[in-house]
Amino acid sequence: MKAALLGAVQELRVDTTAVPHAAPGEVVVRLKAAALNHRDVWIKQGAYAGLRFPVIPGSDGAGVVTEVGPGVETSWEGREVLINPSLDWGHDPRAQEPRFSILGMPRNGTLAEFVSIPASQLAPKPAHLDWAEAAALPLAGLTAFRALFGRAHLKAHEKVLITGIGAGTALFALQFAAAAGAVPCVTSSSEEKLRRAHELGSKAGTLYTHGGWAKEFAEHHGPFDVIIDSAGGPGFHDLVDLAAPGGRIVFFGATRGNPHELPMRKVFWKQISLLGTTMGSPTDFQMMTAYVARHGIHPVISHRFKLDDVAAAFELMEMGGQFGKIVVEID
Ligand SMILES: NC(=O)c1ccc[n+]([C@@H]2O[C@H](COP(=O)([O-])OP(=O)(O)OC[C@H]3O[C@@H](n4cnc5c(N)ncnc54)[C@H](OP(=O)(O)O)[C@@H]3O)[C@@H](O)[C@H]2O)c1
Repeated sequence: MKAALLGAVQELRVDTTAVPHAAPGEVVVRLKAAALNHRDVWIKQGAYAGLRFPVIPGSDGAGVVTEVGPGVETSWEGREVLINPSLDWGHDPRAQEPRFSILGMPRNGTLAEFVSIPASQLAPKPAHLDWAEAAALPLAGLTAFRALFGRAHLKAHEKVLITGIGAGTALFALQFAAAAGAVPCVTSSSEEKLRRAHELGSKAGTLYTHGGWAKEFAEHHGPFDVIIDSAGGPGFHDLVDLAAPGGRIVFFGATRGNPHELPMRKVFWKQISLLGTTMGSPTDFQMMTAYVARHGIHPVISHRFKLDDVAAAFELMEMGGQFGKIVVEID
Protein backbone atom coordinates (compact mmCIF):
# COMPACT_ATOMS: atom_id res chain seq x y z
CA MET A 1 0.00 0.00 0.00
CA LYS A 2 0.99 3.63 -0.37
CA ALA A 3 1.83 5.47 2.86
CA ALA A 4 3.54 8.56 4.22
CA LEU A 5 6.63 7.30 6.05
CA LEU A 6 8.83 9.10 8.54
CA GLY A 7 12.18 7.30 8.34
CA ALA A 8 13.85 9.63 10.85
CA VAL A 9 13.56 13.23 12.06
CA GLN A 10 12.70 15.47 9.07
CA GLU A 11 12.72 12.46 6.69
CA LEU A 12 9.20 12.33 5.35
CA ARG A 13 8.50 10.46 2.10
CA VAL A 14 5.68 8.68 0.34
CA ASP A 15 6.55 5.00 -0.07
CA THR A 16 5.13 1.52 -0.56
CA THR A 17 4.78 -0.73 2.45
CA ALA A 18 2.92 -3.89 3.48
CA VAL A 19 -0.84 -3.74 4.08
CA PRO A 20 -1.47 -4.35 7.81
CA HIS A 21 -3.58 -7.28 8.99
CA ALA A 22 -6.12 -7.38 11.78
CA ALA A 23 -4.76 -9.00 14.96
CA PRO A 24 -7.22 -10.38 17.54
CA GLY A 25 -9.58 -7.60 18.63
CA GLU A 26 -8.58 -5.41 15.70
CA VAL A 27 -9.92 -4.32 12.34
CA VAL A 28 -8.32 -2.94 9.19
CA VAL A 29 -9.77 0.30 7.83
CA ARG A 30 -9.31 1.37 4.21
CA LEU A 31 -8.89 5.11 4.67
CA LYS A 32 -10.82 7.60 2.58
CA ALA A 33 -9.23 10.63 4.23
CA ALA A 34 -6.83 11.55 7.01
CA ALA A 35 -6.04 14.89 8.66
CA LEU A 36 -2.99 16.54 10.22
CA ASN A 37 -2.57 17.75 13.77
CA HIS A 38 0.27 19.83 15.14
CA ARG A 39 1.46 16.65 16.83
CA ASP A 40 2.47 15.28 13.40
CA VAL A 41 4.67 18.34 12.86
CA TRP A 42 6.27 18.01 16.33
CA ILE A 43 7.02 14.33 15.53
CA LYS A 44 8.52 15.18 12.12
CA GLN A 45 10.68 17.88 13.76
CA GLY A 46 11.86 15.48 16.48
CA ALA A 47 10.20 17.63 19.17
CA TYR A 48 8.05 14.88 20.70
CA ALA A 49 8.62 12.39 23.51
CA GLY A 50 9.25 8.68 22.81
CA LEU A 51 10.07 8.92 19.10
CA ARG A 52 10.45 5.62 17.24
CA PHE A 53 11.17 5.37 13.51
CA PRO A 54 10.17 4.34 10.93
CA VAL A 55 6.53 5.23 11.51
CA ILE A 56 3.47 6.11 9.47
CA PRO A 57 2.28 9.34 11.09
CA GLY A 58 -1.33 10.52 11.34
CA SER A 59 -3.87 10.37 14.18
CA ASP A 60 -7.03 11.34 12.32
CA GLY A 61 -8.79 9.19 9.78
CA ALA A 62 -12.09 7.94 8.41
CA GLY A 63 -12.81 5.08 6.04
CA VAL A 64 -14.41 1.68 5.51
CA VAL A 65 -13.68 -1.48 7.53
CA THR A 66 -12.22 -4.09 5.15
CA GLU A 67 -11.10 -6.82 7.58
CA VAL A 68 -12.09 -7.89 11.07
CA GLY A 69 -9.75 -9.87 13.29
CA PRO A 70 -10.57 -12.79 15.59
CA GLY A 71 -13.00 -11.83 18.35
CA VAL A 72 -14.45 -8.81 16.51
CA GLU A 73 -18.14 -8.56 15.53
CA THR A 74 -18.27 -9.34 11.81
CA SER A 75 -21.02 -6.70 11.46
CA TRP A 76 -18.21 -4.08 11.43
CA GLU A 77 -17.13 -5.29 7.99
CA GLY A 78 -18.03 -2.79 5.25
CA ARG A 79 -19.11 -0.08 7.73
CA GLU A 80 -18.17 3.59 7.35
CA VAL A 81 -16.24 4.65 10.44
CA LEU A 82 -14.08 7.29 12.03
CA ILE A 83 -11.24 6.41 14.37
CA ASN A 84 -10.72 7.50 17.97
CA PRO A 85 -6.93 8.10 18.14
CA SER A 86 -6.84 8.06 21.97
CA LEU A 87 -5.50 4.53 22.62
CA ASP A 88 -5.61 2.66 25.95
CA TRP A 89 -7.10 5.53 27.96
CA GLY A 90 -8.09 3.13 30.75
CA HIS A 91 -11.03 3.26 33.14
CA ASP A 92 -10.55 6.55 35.01
CA PRO A 93 -12.46 9.39 33.35
CA ARG A 94 -10.20 11.92 35.16
CA ALA A 95 -6.94 10.91 33.46
CA GLN A 96 -5.36 8.36 31.15
CA GLU A 97 -3.34 5.34 32.32
CA PRO A 98 0.46 5.16 31.86
CA ARG A 99 0.17 2.88 28.81
CA PHE A 100 -2.01 5.47 27.00
CA SER A 101 -0.75 6.44 23.55
CA ILE A 102 -1.93 8.32 20.49
CA LEU A 103 -2.35 6.79 17.05
CA GLY A 104 0.48 7.73 14.67
CA MET A 105 3.44 7.29 17.11
CA PRO A 106 4.46 4.73 18.15
CA ARG A 107 1.61 2.81 16.46
CA ASN A 108 1.40 3.32 12.68
CA GLY A 109 -1.18 5.97 11.82
CA THR A 110 -3.63 7.13 9.23
CA LEU A 111 -1.53 8.75 6.48
CA ALA A 112 -1.77 5.53 4.49
CA GLU A 113 -4.21 3.55 2.39
CA PHE A 114 -4.90 1.13 5.28
CA VAL A 115 -4.54 1.20 9.06
CA SER A 116 -5.06 -1.54 11.64
CA ILE A 117 -6.74 -0.46 14.86
CA PRO A 118 -8.49 -2.05 17.88
CA ALA A 119 -12.20 -2.34 17.08
CA SER A 120 -12.93 -0.50 20.34
CA GLN A 121 -11.55 2.68 18.68
CA LEU A 122 -14.22 2.75 15.97
CA ALA A 123 -17.25 5.00 15.83
CA PRO A 124 -19.87 5.11 13.06
CA LYS A 125 -19.24 8.03 10.68
CA PRO A 126 -21.77 10.78 11.49
CA ALA A 127 -24.17 10.76 8.53
CA HIS A 128 -24.04 14.54 7.94
CA LEU A 129 -20.26 14.56 7.40
CA ASP A 130 -18.43 13.83 4.15
CA TRP A 131 -15.17 11.86 4.28
CA ALA A 132 -12.89 14.89 4.64
CA GLU A 133 -15.03 16.34 7.46
CA ALA A 134 -15.18 12.99 9.26
CA ALA A 135 -11.39 12.63 9.06
CA ALA A 136 -10.95 16.18 10.36
CA LEU A 137 -12.92 15.58 13.54
CA PRO A 138 -11.33 13.02 15.90
CA LEU A 139 -8.23 14.38 17.66
CA ALA A 140 -8.94 18.11 17.66
CA GLY A 141 -12.68 17.64 18.22
CA LEU A 142 -12.05 15.33 21.18
CA THR A 143 -9.48 17.68 22.74
CA ALA A 144 -11.65 20.78 22.36
CA PHE A 145 -14.77 19.00 23.64
CA ARG A 146 -13.10 17.74 26.81
CA ALA A 147 -11.43 21.12 27.39
CA LEU A 148 -14.72 23.03 27.20
CA PHE A 149 -17.15 20.65 28.81
CA GLY A 150 -15.18 17.95 30.67
CA ARG A 151 -12.74 20.37 32.29
CA ALA A 152 -14.15 23.93 32.19
CA HIS A 153 -17.81 22.87 32.52
CA LEU A 154 -18.79 25.68 30.15
CA LYS A 155 -22.36 26.92 30.53
CA ALA A 156 -24.66 28.85 28.21
CA HIS A 157 -24.12 32.65 28.29
CA GLU A 158 -20.61 32.37 29.73
CA LYS A 159 -17.89 34.34 27.95
CA VAL A 160 -15.15 32.16 26.52
CA LEU A 161 -11.89 33.37 24.98
CA ILE A 162 -10.22 31.02 22.47
CA THR A 163 -6.67 31.94 21.49
CA GLY A 164 -5.04 31.34 18.08
CA ILE A 165 -8.28 30.67 16.20
CA GLY A 166 -6.51 29.37 13.09
CA ALA A 167 -5.69 26.17 14.99
CA GLY A 168 -7.72 23.05 14.29
CA THR A 169 -8.44 22.61 18.00
CA ALA A 170 -9.37 26.28 18.48
CA LEU A 171 -11.92 26.22 15.68
CA PHE A 172 -13.69 23.22 17.18
CA ALA A 173 -13.74 25.03 20.52
CA LEU A 174 -15.37 28.02 18.80
CA GLN A 175 -18.01 25.90 17.04
CA PHE A 176 -18.77 23.84 20.18
CA ALA A 177 -18.97 26.91 22.43
CA ALA A 178 -21.28 28.72 20.00
CA ALA A 179 -23.54 25.65 19.82
CA ALA A 180 -23.70 25.60 23.64
CA GLY A 181 -25.06 29.16 23.70
CA ALA A 182 -21.87 30.61 25.20
CA VAL A 183 -20.32 33.89 24.04
CA PRO A 184 -17.08 33.05 22.22
CA CYS A 185 -14.35 35.61 21.49
CA VAL A 186 -11.07 34.84 19.75
CA THR A 187 -7.50 35.95 19.04
CA SER A 188 -5.36 35.38 15.96
CA SER A 189 -2.29 36.62 14.10
CA SER A 190 -4.47 37.32 11.06
CA GLU A 191 -7.29 39.81 10.38
CA GLU A 192 -8.67 37.44 7.76
CA LYS A 193 -8.90 34.59 10.30
CA LEU A 194 -10.70 36.92 12.76
CA ARG A 195 -13.21 37.76 10.03
CA ARG A 196 -13.83 34.10 9.25
CA ALA A 197 -14.17 33.28 12.95
CA HIS A 198 -16.85 35.97 13.21
CA GLU A 199 -18.83 34.13 10.51
CA LEU A 200 -18.62 30.99 12.68
CA GLY A 201 -20.03 32.71 15.77
CA SER A 202 -17.19 34.67 17.36
CA LYS A 203 -18.57 37.82 19.02
CA ALA A 204 -15.27 39.72 19.12
CA GLY A 205 -11.69 39.19 18.04
CA THR A 206 -8.28 40.78 18.28
CA LEU A 207 -4.73 40.32 16.99
CA TYR A 208 -2.43 38.78 19.62
CA THR A 209 0.46 40.14 17.58
CA HIS A 210 -0.56 43.69 18.51
CA GLY A 211 1.30 44.95 21.62
CA GLY A 212 -1.01 45.66 24.57
CA TRP A 213 -3.90 43.69 23.05
CA ALA A 214 -4.85 41.96 26.28
CA LYS A 215 -5.50 45.13 28.29
CA GLU A 216 -7.54 46.68 25.49
CA PHE A 217 -9.51 43.50 24.87
CA ALA A 218 -10.22 42.99 28.59
CA GLU A 219 -11.61 46.54 28.83
CA HIS A 220 -13.96 46.15 25.87
CA HIS A 221 -14.94 42.47 25.94
CA GLY A 222 -13.71 40.85 29.16
CA PRO A 223 -13.45 39.45 31.67
CA PHE A 224 -13.76 35.84 30.50
CA ASP A 225 -15.31 32.98 32.46
CA VAL A 226 -13.39 30.39 30.42
CA ILE A 227 -10.16 30.70 28.42
CA ILE A 228 -9.00 27.96 26.03
CA ASP A 229 -5.31 28.18 25.12
CA SER A 230 -2.75 25.97 23.41
CA ALA A 231 0.00 28.56 22.86
CA GLY A 232 1.32 29.11 26.41
CA GLY A 233 4.65 30.95 26.39
CA PRO A 234 5.08 34.54 27.61
CA GLY A 235 1.46 35.36 26.62
CA PHE A 236 0.10 33.04 29.32
CA HIS A 237 0.48 35.89 31.84
CA ASP A 238 -2.07 37.95 29.86
CA LEU A 239 -4.63 35.17 30.18
CA VAL A 240 -4.58 35.47 33.96
CA ASP A 241 -5.43 39.19 33.58
CA LEU A 242 -8.20 38.40 31.08
CA ALA A 243 -9.84 35.77 33.33
CA ALA A 244 -12.89 36.71 35.40
CA PRO A 245 -12.85 36.15 39.18
CA GLY A 246 -13.55 32.42 39.55
CA GLY A 247 -12.59 31.90 35.90
CA ARG A 248 -11.14 28.72 34.39
CA ILE A 249 -8.10 28.67 32.10
CA VAL A 250 -7.81 25.38 30.23
CA PHE A 251 -4.69 24.49 28.26
CA PHE A 252 -3.60 21.46 26.25
CA GLY A 253 -0.65 22.75 24.23
CA ALA A 254 2.48 24.84 24.63
CA THR A 255 3.17 25.93 21.06
CA ARG A 256 5.11 28.96 22.40
CA GLY A 257 6.81 27.02 25.21
CA ASN A 258 6.46 27.45 28.98
CA PRO A 259 5.35 30.76 30.52
CA HIS A 260 8.30 32.73 31.87
CA GLU A 261 6.49 33.22 35.15
CA LEU A 262 3.27 32.27 36.85
CA PRO A 263 1.62 35.27 38.57
CA MET A 264 0.58 33.23 41.61
CA ARG A 265 -0.85 36.14 43.62
CA LYS A 266 -3.27 37.03 40.82
CA VAL A 267 -4.24 33.40 40.37
CA PHE A 268 -5.15 32.84 44.00
CA TRP A 269 -6.67 36.27 44.61
CA LYS A 270 -8.97 35.91 41.60
CA GLN A 271 -9.80 32.28 42.53
CA ILE A 272 -8.72 31.15 39.05
CA SER A 273 -8.61 27.45 38.15
CA LEU A 274 -5.71 26.39 35.91
CA LEU A 275 -6.79 23.18 34.18
CA GLY A 276 -4.63 20.94 32.03
CA THR A 277 -6.22 18.51 29.62
CA THR A 278 -5.09 16.00 27.00
CA MET A 279 -7.17 14.23 24.36
CA GLY A 280 -10.09 12.45 26.08
CA SER A 281 -11.66 9.22 27.28
CA PRO A 282 -13.79 6.85 25.18
CA THR A 283 -16.86 8.44 26.81
CA ASP A 284 -15.63 11.93 25.87
CA PHE A 285 -15.22 10.72 22.28
CA GLN A 286 -18.69 9.23 22.15
CA MET A 287 -20.19 12.42 23.68
CA MET A 288 -18.25 14.58 21.21
CA THR A 289 -19.44 12.72 18.10
CA ALA A 290 -23.02 12.76 19.44
CA TYR A 291 -22.75 16.53 20.08
CA VAL A 292 -21.45 17.13 16.54
CA ALA A 293 -24.33 15.10 15.09
CA ARG A 294 -26.96 16.76 17.34
CA HIS A 295 -25.87 20.27 16.41
CA GLY A 296 -25.12 19.47 12.75
CA ILE A 297 -21.57 20.84 13.15
CA HIS A 298 -19.32 20.64 10.08
CA PRO A 299 -15.55 20.75 10.75
CA VAL A 300 -13.80 23.62 8.99
CA ILE A 301 -11.52 22.27 6.26
CA SER A 302 -8.67 24.64 5.48
CA HIS A 303 -6.89 22.77 2.68
CA ARG A 304 -7.04 19.39 0.96
CA PHE A 305 -3.99 17.51 -0.34
CA LYS A 306 -3.43 14.16 -2.06
CA LEU A 307 -1.30 11.58 -0.23
CA ASP A 308 1.46 12.09 -2.84
CA ASP A 309 1.64 15.75 -1.74
CA VAL A 310 1.74 15.08 2.00
CA ALA A 311 5.03 17.01 2.38
CA ALA A 312 3.26 20.19 1.22
CA ALA A 313 0.51 19.56 3.79
CA PHE A 314 3.15 19.40 6.57
CA GLU A 315 4.83 22.57 5.27
CA LEU A 316 1.55 24.47 5.40
CA MET A 317 1.00 23.48 9.03
CA GLU A 318 4.62 24.36 9.92
CA MET A 319 3.98 27.87 8.55
CA GLY A 320 0.66 28.21 10.44
CA GLY A 321 -1.05 29.00 7.14
CA GLN A 322 -4.25 27.09 7.88
CA PHE A 323 -7.68 28.09 9.09
CA GLY A 324 -9.02 24.81 10.40
CA LYS A 325 -8.04 21.32 9.44
CA ILE A 326 -5.56 20.21 6.79
CA VAL A 327 -6.99 17.09 5.16
CA VAL A 328 -5.17 14.45 3.12
CA GLU A 329 -7.52 12.70 0.70
CA ILE A 330 -6.51 9.09 0.24
CA ASP A 331 -9.07 7.31 -1.85
N1 LIG B 1 -2.64 17.76 24.73
C1 LIG B 1 -3.44 17.41 23.72
O1 LIG B 1 -4.24 16.48 23.81
C2 LIG B 1 -3.40 18.20 22.45
C3 LIG B 1 -4.34 17.95 21.45
C4 LIG B 1 -4.33 18.74 20.32
C5 LIG B 1 -3.37 19.73 20.18
N2 LIG B 1 -2.44 19.92 21.15
C6 LIG B 1 -1.46 20.99 21.03
O2 LIG B 1 -2.18 22.20 20.87
C7 LIG B 1 -1.49 23.07 19.95
C8 LIG B 1 -2.42 23.36 18.77
O3 LIG B 1 -2.61 22.18 18.03
P1 LIG B 1 -3.37 22.20 16.63
O4 LIG B 1 -3.18 20.87 16.00
O5 LIG B 1 -4.74 22.72 16.81
O6 LIG B 1 -2.43 23.28 15.88
P2 LIG B 1 -2.48 24.00 14.51
O7 LIG B 1 -3.75 23.64 13.78
O8 LIG B 1 -1.16 23.78 13.86
O9 LIG B 1 -2.57 25.54 14.95
C9 LIG B 1 -1.51 26.33 15.32
C10 LIG B 1 -2.07 27.72 15.63
O10 LIG B 1 -1.48 28.21 16.82
C11 LIG B 1 -1.76 29.58 16.88
N3 LIG B 1 -0.69 30.33 17.58
C12 LIG B 1 0.61 30.37 17.28
N4 LIG B 1 1.22 31.22 18.15
C13 LIG B 1 0.27 31.72 18.98
C14 LIG B 1 0.27 32.64 20.07
N5 LIG B 1 1.37 33.25 20.47
N6 LIG B 1 -0.90 32.90 20.70
C15 LIG B 1 -2.03 32.30 20.31
N7 LIG B 1 -2.08 31.41 19.28
C16 LIG B 1 -0.95 31.12 18.64
C17 LIG B 1 -1.88 30.07 15.42
O11 LIG B 1 -3.18 30.68 15.29
P3 LIG B 1 -3.47 31.87 14.26
O12 LIG B 1 -3.18 31.28 12.92
O13 LIG B 1 -4.91 32.19 14.46
O14 LIG B 1 -2.57 33.00 14.61
C18 LIG B 1 -1.74 28.77 14.61
O15 LIG B 1 -2.61 28.72 13.51
C19 LIG B 1 -0.21 22.33 19.59
O16 LIG B 1 0.81 22.75 20.46
C20 LIG B 1 -0.56 20.87 19.83
O17 LIG B 1 0.57 20.09 20.07
C21 LIG B 1 -2.45 19.18 22.28
